[in-house]
Amino acid sequence: MALTEQDFKNLPETGIDPDNSGKYQALLDDLQGNILKGHGRDYTVDIFVQWKSDDIPAVKEWIINFTKGYVTSAQLQADESRRYRDQKVSGSVFANFYLTRIGYETLGFEAFQIPKNQPFTMGMQYEGIRTSLGDPKVTDWEVGYQQKIHSLIAIADDDQDSLLKFANQITQELSKIATVLHQENGFILRNKDGQVIEHFGFVDGISQPLFIKRDIVKAQASDRNFSKWDPRAPLDLVLVKDPNGQTEDSYGSYLVYRKLEQNVKAFREDQQALAQALKIQNELAGAYVMGRFPDGTPVTISDVPMHPRNPPNNFNYDQDLTATKCPFHAHIRKTNPRGDSVRNSNVNLEEERGHRIARRAVSYGEKDLTNASTEGSGLLFLCFQADIENQFNFMQARWSNANNFVKVGVGPDPLIGSPQGTQHWPTEWSKSSTQDYNFKLWVKMKGGEYFFAPSISSLKNL
Ligand code: HEM
Repeated sequence: MALTEQDFKNLPETGIDPDNSGKYQALLDDLQGNILKGHGRDYTVDIFVQWKSDDIPAVKEWIINFTKGYVTSAQLQADESRRYRDQKVSGSVFANFYLTRIGYETLGFEAFQIPKNQPFTMGMQYEGIRTSLGDPKVTDWEVGYQQKIHSLIAIADDDQDSLLKFANQITQELSKIATVLHQENGFILRNKDGQVIEHFGFVDGISQPLFIKRDIVKAQASDRNFSKWDPRAPLDLVLVKDPNGQTEDSYGSYLVYRKLEQNVKAFREDQQALAQALKIQNELAGAYVMGRFPDGTPVTISDVPMHPRNPPNNFNYDQDLTATKCPFHAHIRKTNPRGDSVRNSNVNLEEERGHRIARRAVSYGEKDLTNASTEGSGLLFLCFQADIENQFNFMQARWSNANNFVKVGVGPDPLIGSPQGTQHWPTEWSKSSTQDYNFKLWVKMKGGEYFFAPSISSLKNL
């Protein structure tokens, strides 16, 4: 029997258990991996292609074979990670296949068969979207992203050499039927404790919507039963019905892909200048930008890093309503207000939580963090959602970029808000005095696109 709407709105208490998937079996078998849970591989290669329109049957045959041979289902992802935990057997290469709206059209799909979310239809280059996100002019993007992208083939593995060989093999196979526009090589950056970080040095990927039992049980144990923040999420946060799926439970998800360059040297200098202006510790200044210290300690909880083994996520801003500990503008407060946007408004918490995204970013560029690079390094920002307009675009445009957020004149998110502007910074933690400072934008968007992750059965039946 097919899943009902209720199965999408209400997850079981402890989420989906792929080891005992019950009524979710068909869904997990037909859904691409990496959506409900990150694949966790150390290296990634993303290949952006434009199909040649003169031999579409050959293109379809290649996609069908690639899907049958490599595309990893959510179920296979879970089975492989169980095998790794139990027997230390490494998983195979992880693969995803994505299409843009133009990609669907090129393959001959009719309008009614193409996923309908508005930004996906328009594309990231569309002027109205570009300006609302605060993105640079398309002519300033990297050349590969200025083209009309049809598909993204994303592969990942723990062995970089074999991954790059596989990427070469794919590129060669594609040469007859497609133009490879661009390739991105990504990797997981870690600190000395083995935690995943981004180029500015902060632990990343702590707060995510959770769908899978293993993740929920683990988080529940370390986060005291979600008393202040519940990370669980219903499936309809990220999944939508695939119009071309071959089963009753065929689902897909929208992917936002953005290459975000990080100017590490300038960020560090600006953080130091901010610390001097406020006469506070450098580390606290960084926490006022991000909302967490580099080790993940939330600044709304403490004014010094607490070196937690598991960075806390069971918090909200109820004890910090005037933002004297964590400024309203801080990156994590803007991108997840944890109830802030509900107070004094007619928005309810469920609605606010409906803007969440499943982040699946990896780093690119410099691997040695002692080399503070000014260009060529950053984040390949990926996130999944069911509605791009209400989720990624809303978060970037209405929260991060907005000058007015919860209160008038809060200023932009100093990490990613565009255009940049002046924020009010606490001169003393937990006291109400503030000083204005314009933290410059050291993250630069270099290009990107909106994709759909089709169900596996739809790709096998092109
Ligand atoms: C959280 C870094 C871009 C949305 C975080 C955290 C870090 C971080 C260090 C804290 C760790 C965590 O809670 O998981 C960055 C960097 C970026 C970037 C370096 C760009 C180079 C973005 C963008 C968005 C975004 C473009 C979406 C518009 C979020 C969200 C959270 C988060 C939703 C979790 C907040 C929470 O639940 O408390 N980011 N981020 N980030 N970021 Fe970003």
